[in-house]
Amino acid sequence: MKNHSFPQDFLWGAATSAYQVEGAAEERGETIWDRFCAIPGKVSGGQTGRTACDHYHRWPEDLKLMREIGLRSYRFSVAWARVLPEGTGPVNSAGLDFYRRLVDGLSEAGITPLATLYHWDLPQALQERGGWESRDTARRFADYALLLFDRLGDRIEHWITLNELFVVAHLGYRTGEHAPGFRDEGRAVQVAHHLLLAHAWAVQAFRSSGGGTAGRSGGRIGIGLDLPWVQAATEHPGDRAAALLYDAYHNRWFLDPVFRGRYPEELLSDFQSRHGAPRLEAGDPEALAAAAPDFLGVNYYFRELVRRPADPQGRFEVIRPDYPGARFTSMGWEIWPDGLYEQLRRLDREYGQPAMIVTENGAAFPDQPGADARVEDGQRVEYLRAHIEAAGRALQAGVRLQGYQVWSLLDNFEWAFGYDRRFGLVHVDFATQKRTPKSSALWYRQVIERGGL
Ligand code: FCB
Repeated sequence: MKNHSFPQDFLWGAATSAYQVEGAAEERGETIWDRFCAIPGKVSGGQTGRTACDHYHRWPEDLKLMREIGLRSYRFSVAWARVLPEGTGPVNSAGLDFYRRLVDGLSEAGITPLATLYHWDLPQALQERGGWESRDTARRFADYALLLFDRLGDRIEHWITLNELFVVAHLGYRTGEHAPGFRDEGRAVQVAHHLLLAHAWAVQAFRSSGGGTAGRSGGRIGIGLDLPWVQAATEHPGDRAAALLYDAYHNRWFLDPVFRGRYPEELLSDFQSRHGAPRLEAGDPEALAAAAPDFLGVNYYFRELVRRPADPQGRFEVIRPDYPGARFTSMGWEIWPDGLYEQLRRLDREYGQPAMIVTENGAAFPDQPGADARVEDGQRVEYLRAHIEAAGRALQAGVRLQGYQVWSLLDNFEWAFGYDRRFGLVHVDFATQKRTPKSSALWYRQVIERGGL
């Protein structure tokens, strides 16, 4: 596999998120994930993000690891409740200083920061006022975003508003597997609308405060979406129709409003007839349409195979692939690198050739240090190699891909799965906080040095 098609300034990097790595829960406001973790049965082993990787205190060591791996960029998220413990109101200056020091340290090391403003850790105080079911939370988000643009905008060029709106709405409000843990599709649909508004209003705040392509040159703002590659399980017309509808549900539900200012027609009528949601207010479509992002963050992990539902009430069924040779990660996710290529090509074709960054791609495997203390994670190297190859092919085909972030820099708190799904380039022993770069980290260093495979 040879491919040297990546540009010089390509943003090779790795990603984390605040709740998953920072710890230091007592040094910030409470979040919905603190509450959720405390409910018995919600998180494997009753684990929590209270300490996580203790990155809040150990970031200088983690920065050193990033330098050793040769990262050109680093994607992290800002914990809203660390900056504004109540979600609004007084600023916690120690929290803001933490991000300022981190970003300055990155810049000194020649590592470009990519800052995400919301990676699922809503301040609990806002949840008590309705959380994402309330339009007011979207307004508070735009205020919080503006505060960060003001305070850190001179140091951060790449901003991402929210991470994976589908996951926030679907797992948080429909299946209940994530905080805040509700099970009601109508509520999920309304939440999704408010997340989209939050994004649009933050983009508007960014531009009116002088950032982005529409204002001061240099700064840019995007959104991070989880975009699995969806395929019909068979050629049967019923399966193909189900796959199209599922793609609308998982992907176009967000892509269309973000890029076109409107929901997919078939989805909107389906939602509104069953739930009377989303309820739109005058001006919402215009606000969405006016906020097309400067770049799209693509989180890609797997393909989803869909067939027509057995249940006549159902609309689609996502199945577990079982063909000879099918391979899966510890998450049970199918390994399907070509889906990254296909998805990037499709996004390029259907959404007006947006600039894109792969903001997450990676795999969990049960890595453990060997007798010599080394962590050999050949399966991860294979996974990353195949996906970088797919990204390279998309680039060669003309897709405007500008970066690639491995999920994750560190083994960390994998939400409802707790600590036993290891995604890191760096192994973390959670009892001692000892970090050990895995063989994938050493391999990735060479990829970055060579500018490709
Ligand atoms: C994504 C999340 C990220 C991490 C990976 C494995 O959905 O954005 O926080 O959990 O999955």
